[in-house]
Amino acid sequence: MIGPTPTQALRRLHDALGAPPGEVEVHVLRHRGTCGDAVDAAAITLDVGAPVADAACDGACWAAPAATVVRPGHRHRFARLDRGVPDELAACVRGECDEPQAGSGEAGLTVRLGRNDGSLTDVLTRGGYGAYAVAAMLQPARILEVLRGVGLTGRGGAHFPVATKWGLLAAHEHPEKVLVVNAEEGEPGVFKDRHLLEGDPHRLVEGMLIACRATGIHEAYVYINGQARNGRDAFERALADAAAAGILDGTAFGGDPVTIEVRSGAGGYVCGEESVILNSIEGERPVPRFKPPFATDSGLWGRPTLINNAETLCAVTTIFDSPPPPTKLLPLSGDVPRPGLYEVPVDGNMTWASVLAMAGVAPARVQALLLGGPSGRFVLPEEFDTPLEMRTLGAGGTVVLGPRADIAAITRSLAAYNARESCGECTPCREGTQRLVQLLADPATNRDRIDALIEVMTEASLCALGGMAGRHVTSALAAFPDAFEVTDPTEASR
Ligand SMILES: Cc1cc2nc3c(=O)[nH]c(=O)nc-3n(C[C@H](O)[C@H](O)[C@H](O)COP(=O)(O)O)c2cc1C
Ligand code: SF4
Repeated sequence: MIGPTPTQALRRLHDALGAPPGEVEVHVLRHRGTCGDAVDAAAITLDVGAPVADAACDGACWAAPAATVVRPGHRHRFARLDRGVPDELAACVRGECDEPQAGSGEAGLTVRLGRNDGSLTDVLTRGGYGAYAVAAMLQPARILEVLRGVGLTGRGGAHFPVATKWGLLAAHEHPEKVLVVNAEEGEPGVFKDRHLLEGDPHRLVEGMLIACRATGIHEAYVYINGQARNGRDAFERALADAAAAGILDGTAFGGDPVTIEVRSGAGGYVCGEESVILNSIEGERPVPRFKPPFATDSGLWGRPTLINNAETLCAVTTIFDSPPPPTKLLPLSGDVPRPGLYEVPVDGNMTWASVLAMAGVAPARVQALLLGGPSGRFVLPEEFDTPLEMRTLGAGGTVVLGPRADIAAITRSLAAYNARESCGECTPCREGTQRLVQLLADPATNRDRIDALIEVMTEASLCALGGMAGRHVTSALAAFPDAFEVTDPTEASR
C-alpha cells in the first residue's frame, strides 16, 4: 500500500489537530524546565497583552528566569526576569522589538528549544516530523544510504558511525530486535540530553521512529536518568500525544508500528554505559557486561539491540536537510558569564576561541578547559584557535577553568569521583582508581607508578569508566606538572 506523501500526511495531522500550518500568532513563552524551576520561573507573572505559555530552557541557562516573545518569523528573548519584567517585553509584543535575537541555534537540534510550548500542534508548525514523513516513504536501505552519506557519528561520547551500527541491526532477521535510547546522562557537567527531552521531546520520538524504520525494529525503550523528572514528564507527554495522533502506529505517515516505553535508572556515572543499561532494564545488577557478544548481536533479553544516545537520535532528524547541520551540543559551565547549552557547527571553522566568545569568555582569562569530565582531558589555550574535530569532543561537557581554578585539586577530585563511581566489578578499576587517588598525593615522586597504573587500567578495565579514569590525570601532569603540591593521601581522596 502506498502511504500519503509527507506533505499530505503533515497537512492531515495539522487539520486533525485544529491548527493551520504556517505562521503562528504573537505569544510569549515563559521558560520553565529545570533551569527555570531552579530560579522559580513559575513565580514570574507576565501580563503583557499576549497569551503566555510555558516552554523549556532554550539553552541560555544563564538567562533564567527568561521568556521569549514569539512573532511570526521573529522572536526575542528577555533574560533575568527576576530583576523585573522590562517594558521592552510588552513593547516587543506590540511589534516594537529590537533586532531579532538568537537564542540557541537558528537551525539544528536546538531550534525549537524555548520556542515551542511542547504541544504537538506547535511542533508540527515548526517542522516536526517532517523527516519521519520522508523516511516513512523510503526503503530502509535508502535511509541507511543517506545516513552513510551524511557521516553522522554517535553523540554519546565514542562517535561510532551511526550508519554502521544501524546496518548491523538492519542485517539481523530477528523479529524482536529492539532499540534502546541512552538518556541516562550521569556524567558531571553534561546536560544536553536533559535540554532535548525537556525542550523538544518530539524530536527524540521522531529520531527513534526513523531509526526503527531503517532497521526494522518495532519495540523501543528510552532509559532516562531517574533524577531527570522534568525530562521524563515532557517525553511521556510527547509520547502520549504522538500515539493519539497516530504517529506511532503508522496511521499518520504510513510507517510501521512502533511501541515505545520509558525506563528510569537510579543514576550514577556507570549507569550510562550501554550494557549497564541493558542489565538495569532487565532488573539485573547495574554492572557492565563482558563484550563480545556486542549488543548489536545479543543485547536486551539476548535480542539484537540498537543503542543510541538521545542527541544522536535527535540529530538523525536533520539527515534529509540540505546540507544537514554538522553540529554538536556543548554544555558549557564553570568560570563563564553565560553558561548553558551551545549548539556549534563542527564545520572546519569553529574553534574553542569562537565557542568561548559566544559565552562571553575572554580566552586570555582561561587556564584550560576540562572536556569530558572524569573521563576527559584538559584543553590548553594553545589549542583554542585549532578547528574543532567532532571525534575529539566526546559527549561535549566542557568546564571553563579560569585564573583561580586549582588544577591539582580538580584533578584529585575527579580521580576521587572515579574511585567512588567504580562499580567494583573488575579489579583494575576497583583497585586502580583507589590507588590512583593515593599516588596523586605526591605525583612527582610517584610519576612512574602513576603512568604504569594508568596503562594497566586503560588496557585491562572491563568498561571505559576504568579505561579512561587516568586520562585527565595524564593530561594534567603533562600540562601542569608544577601545580601539584604534596598532600596527605587521605586529603587527596576527599
Ligand atoms: C562510564 C560510562 C558512562 C557513559 N554514559 C553515557 C551516557 O550518559 N549517555 C550516553 O549516551 N552514553 C554514555 N556512555 C556511552 C555508551 O556506553 C554508548 O557508547 C552510547 O550510548 C552509544 O550511543 P551513540 O553511539 O549514539 O553515541 C557511557 C559510557 C561509559 C563507559
Ligand atoms: S571499569 Fe570500573 S566501572 Fe567499569 S566494570 Fe570495571 S569496576 Fe566497574
